[in-house]
Amino acid sequence: MLKEDIEHAKRFFTTTVSLLTTASKGKRNVMACEWTFNVSYDPLYIAVFVNPKHYTYDLLKESSEFGVNLCSIDQAALAHYVGNVSGKTVDKFKEFNIKTMPSKFIAPPLINGSVLSAECKVVKCIKLGDHVMFVGQVLRALVDDERKPFAMHLGKLHYLGKRVAKK
Ligand SMILES: Cc1cc2nc3c(=O)[nH]c(=O)nc-3n(C[C@H](O)[C@H](O)[C@H](O)COP(=O)(O)O)c2cc1C
Repeated sequence: MLKEDIEHAKRFFTTTVSLLTTASKGKRNVMACEWTFNVSYDPLYIAVFVNPKHYTYDLLKESSEFGVNLCSIDQAALAHYVGNVSGKTVDKFKEFNIKTMPSKFIAPPLINGSVLSAECKVVKCIKLGDHVMFVGQVLRALVDDERKPFAMHLGKLHYLGKRVAKK
């Protein structure tokens, strides 16, 4: 039934989730980031939206580069872990035994087992309400057609379902 509810509306969007990697001055970090979107095809830009209270924000501001790793269904638990603890107090790569591969053009590593991994250089940074949008130009992208993403809706993770018929 249709009802007015701004609070509930915030959770109604359906997103994928990425593992956002950052590094600066010998430190590295990873957090879960559902607000990860491609916002231009040519050049390929990816925007991530990060709360300035997060450690990821500090590393992003210092380095102006990030890795985007779109989660596969095998990474659901990992997304939960790295999205609920801060790199300010924990080395999440060690704590959760995260398998990585080195990037070619940026310092943050890429994460094994992702649907898509991309190396990005920040071209724009804008504060929008309580988050900051970092738009990154993709310098390199790796895709794995055999892995499947999950979708997040109303705070829960779901398998992608059947195609919807157009008529
Ligand atoms: C599934 C999931 C999605 C999340 N998406 C975002 C997001 O889009 N932006 C954001 O700023 N925080 C997001 N978070 C919260 C951060 O991942 C979380 O606060 C994290 O602990 C920050 O880590 P850091 O302090 O090491 O950077 C999300 C958390 C989860 C579990």
